[in-house]
Amino acid sequence: PPTKPRKGLLRITHLGLVLLVCFSAVFFIYYKPAISWLPCSRSEPTPDTCKDACLKVLKGEKAAQVGKDNTHNVKDMVVLIWSWPFGFQFNLESCGSEFGITGCHLTADRNQLNKAHGVMFHLRDIGGELSYLLTLSRPPLQKWVWMNMESPANSPQLPGADDLFNLTSNYRRDSDIWVPYGQLVEASEEDKAFQIPMKDKLVCWIVSNWNNNYQRVNYFNELSKYINIEAYGRHFGKYINDEDYVKIMSSCKFYLAFENSIYKDYMSDKLYHPMRYGTVPVVLGPPRENYEEFVPGNSFIHVDDFGSPQELADHLKLLDQNQEMYEQYFTWRKYFTVKGSVFGLEHACRICEHLKKNKNFRVFKNINKWYWG
Ligand SMILES: *[C@@H]1O[C@H](CO)[C@@H](O)[C@H](O)[C@H]1NC(C)=O
Repeated sequence: PPTKPRKGLLRITHLGLVLLVCFSAVFFIYYKPAISWLPCSRSEPTPDTCKDACLKVLKGEKAAQVGKDNTHNVKDMVVLIWSWPFGFQFNLESCGSEFGITGCHLTADRNQLNKAHGVMFHLRDIGGELSYLLTLSRPPLQKWVWMNMESPANSPQLPGADDLFNLTSNYRRDSDIWVPYGQLVEASEEDKAFQIPMKDKLVCWIVSNWNNNYQRVNYFNELSKYINIEAYGRHFGKYINDEDYVKIMSSCKFYLAFENSIYKDYMSDKLYHPMRYGTVPVVLGPPRENYEEFVPGNSFIHVDDFGSPQELADHLKLLDQNQEMYEQYFTWRKYFTVKGSVFGLEHACRICEHLKKNKNFRVFKNINKWYWG
């Protein structure tokens, strides 16, 4: 039939086209012809939209140089832990086993400073060293990372820290290397078999830092007029160790997850521990909407949902009498489980991961304004 050869011809033309396209792509990848072929050179680049490829546009010559002798493609990304955060040491070899992040060489040896691609500084531990840090000469590609997990109320401002760091690692969603205190992740089959632990207490609170000026102390004092609260910690002469902590936590129906200070995204272990150990957190912190960005809306009780501590107490008593209503607070367990972050180690490993992916130039201009407003 006369149509057959034509189809064959078409196919050959097609094949030729495909080959041409492939060849051109290979040509462009290998020979990088000197034409302006930057993906975002037309629109205004910002540090968020413009990563490695269009860096030159953003930062001019300085950045072009960074790009040129970029040695970040090394297998081992070296991250120096300037000092153990709060003196708390961790296993430097475990980025792979803990987080599946490979190709990282963590070190706590300051002699490695010049080899490091990144240096992690725990804010609370560098106060006295600031003037010394300012004298250090820094390899041009090295990034200094400001790491801190305390809220602004409990973090010291460093007057000379503007322009000093390249990246931030913090619980705040808008930090470069975001490490929340905990996360809800997909439940395994084993997790789904969760059963609410046996309860013999209604409301509990474990507090280590009692401060009469804290909003949470006022709320506690009011609330305790209307409902019995089992309170633990030095202030109550009932100090508890780590082992008792879990036991006590899981044997309470409700746990007062009251933050020491109120800031956006600041939801500490006080939220994630009760969720993990099978207790309903009663939260005092940022608004409910903010909590709901991190955990399901029906997994916690917010003090702001009630007009007064007395109304909250009434609701808790109601739930105590109604098992079905109480169990609603655990429906999320069918889908999720809580994963806590590993203080210090997780930051270092995620910093390494970030450095591998982002080879761009970056300076944090105004860290004090960002954090302390
Ligand atoms: C990191 O910040 C310092 C201090 O502002 C700056 O001199 C350096 O070029 C920055 N490095 C990178 C790789 O962004």
